Amino acid sequence: MKLMTSLCVLFVALALVLSSAALADPPKPPAVSTFVPVDSLADQVEDYIKDLEEAVESKDEYKDSKEKLSKNSNTLIVIALALGLSDKENGYKASAAGIVQAAQKLAATKDYDAAKSAVDGVKAAIKAKAGGADNLKWEKVASLHELMEAVPTINTKLKGALKKEKRFPKKAEKAAGQAAVLAVIAQGSMPHSGDTKKPEEAAKWYKFCAEMRDAAAELSAACVKKDHAAAEAAMEKLGETCHTCHEVFHPEEK
Ligand code: HEC
Repeated sequence: MKLMTSLCVLFVALALVLSSAALADPPKPPAVSTFVPVDSLADQVEDYIKDLEEAVESKDEYKDSKEKLSKNSNTLIVIALALGLSDKENGYKASAAGIVQAAQKLAATKDYDAAKSAVDGVKAAIKAKAGGADNLKWEKVASLHELMEAVPTINTKLKGALKKEKRFPKKAEKAAGQAAVLAVIAQGSMPHSGDTKKPEEAAKWYKFCAEMRDAAAELSAACVKKDHAAAEAAMEKLGETCHTCHEVFHPEEK
């Protein structure tokens, strides 16, 4: 009888441990192509490489662009992760794991020479197509702070693209890629609940990240269709997700 009781206690304890572990884990990530137009996202890689190259063009430029370089290299990490994990073929699948690593190395650099050679490293990784995408997963790969710093810049670009309905069709293709980057940042932020000021609110963190991802996905899809009204509605939704999350996790910036 005593044995039964202790077994029961053991089982209950085990169940509790298991259920809290389940609660602490982020929800299963959706297939990449369901929330990102993969081709538009892939097109963004070139833009990011161009920005990175510009940032290390000279020592003076580096000094001015240090923060931008940090945001962009962290953003490139999650873009490459998404392209590597993508269920849809794309030109970066074979180089994605290498880009993730090279961009992480770049993100960690502290001076001009290291940054310059790390940018070359990213370009080399793109060419190398060394494979390894099977080992990628949605885990912590970048700095949450830097990803969050990147969000307003992209958001501003999107607002610019939507501002004039007449000009929107011309800007929509690029905007689709930029919105896709926001979706990927949101998904990539999910494993970072422990890095927020309220690690105990993980469930809320996952929910808010998913809401941002899905609103950005809607915006991206509307841009692919060059549907200005739908894009505006999605932009509004996206803006709401910023406020909802900040209210809990970044209350000083609503
Ligand atoms: C899932 C939660 C979440 C969502 C959604 C979110 N943010 Fe944030 N945001 C944060 C957190 C957390 C920080 C603080 C990050 C840090 O400094 O480490 C932050 C920081 C910021 C900052 C301050 C950067 C700085 O220089 O201090 C801005 C601006 C910002 N977010 C804009 C936005 C915009 C615009 C959106 C919507 C498109 C958005 N955020 C969506 C959580 C979120």
